[in-house]
Order: sequence, then C-alpha cells, then structure tokens
Amino acid sequence: MRRLVKKSHAIVLLVGVICFSIAAAQAPDASQGVVKYRQSVMKSHAAHMSAMGRIVQGQVPFAEHVADHAAAIRSTSKMIPQIFPEGSGTGETRAKPDIWQKRSQFEQAALTLQQESAKLVEVAQGGDMKEITVQYLAVAKACKGCHKPFRKRK
Ligand code: HEC
Repeated sequence: MRRLVKKSHAIVLLVGVICFSIAAAQAPDASQGVVKYRQSVMKSHAAHMSAMGRIVQGQVPFAEHVADHAAAIRSTSKMIPQIFPEGSGTGETRAKPDIWQKRSQFEQAALTLQQESAKLVEVAQGGDMKEITVQYLAVAKACKGCHKPFRKRK
C-alpha cells in the first residue's frame, strides 16, 4: 500500500513537471518573454540614471560612482537593437511600430545613447562635477531622443 502511494506521488510529480514544461515551451506569445526582458533592461537604465541624479544634485557624496553607472548604461545600451526583434511589438508593450519601420533611425537613437554614456564615463573620470552634470543631461536627452519617437505614451 505504501509503495503504491509513493508510486502515485511520483506519477503526479512527473505529470506536473511535464505540464509545466509544455506550458513554458508554449508560452502563448513567445515575444512576451523578450518584452519583459527589455523592460527590465530599460528599468536598469532608469535606476542608474536616478542614482546618478542623486549624485549630481549633491544628495550623496559618491561622485566617483558616476563612471561605473555610466559604464553600465554604455554596456546595456548595446543590447537595444537585439532586444527589439521583429515581431515583438504586440501585447503589453509600449514599443511603437516605427521601431521596425524606421529601423535605422531607431538604431541611431540607440547608438546615440551608447556614445553619450561613453562620453559620460570619460568626463566622470575627469572629476569635474559641472562637466559631469552637463554630460549627464546629454545622456538623459539621449533617452528622450528615443522615447519620444519610439515609445507610446502611457
Ligand atoms: C533606442 C531607443 C531607446 C533608448 C535610447 C532608451 N529607451 Fe527606454 N524604452 C524604449 C522603448 C521602445 C520602450 C518601451 C519598451 C516596451 O514597453 O516594450 C522603453 C521603455 C523604457 C522604460 C519603461 C520600462 C518598463 O518597465 O516598461 C524605462 C523606465 C526606460 N525605457 C528608461 C530609459 C532610460 C533611463 C534611458 C536612457 C538611459 C532609455 N530608456 C533609453 C526605447 C529606448
């Protein structure tokens, strides 16, 4: 009797694992995975920007952190073209269809962020807070430079 119970538990577990695997493999819209992923990447951009914002506003004394925050944005900005693949414009996304219709303009906007954040890394290493603030604002402008044409309003 005990063996039988054990066996049926094993079967229930196995069936559970199989169902879970099928559900995972056949996610209703495979593109939703990439949408969630890119929204996480974007949130990381925003987190670095707001952390740096506190530094440039003098709320915290971590000026030497700016270069690392900027380097993080520089790294993840390189992912932008890849995380907006063709066909990922539906579902719970604010991505505008123009991302795929005006692809070169979109990729240029991503490149601008890469360049401006790279410049912020350099400027930050110089340590001049005034220059850092100016370049920080240039990075913020690069975010807006893409959101305005390519992200839907809420
Ligand atoms: C080349 C275009 C581009 C650049 C550059 C860009 N973004 Fe985005 N961002 C988007 C698009 C498009 C979306 C909408 C994504 C979606 O909903 O699928 C988005 C979404 C977001 C979101 C919302 C994420 C969520 O949870 O839904 C935040 C926050 C964000 N971006 C912050 C930033 C910041 C900060 C920068 C600059 C450091 C930046 N982005 C640069 C295109 C860009």
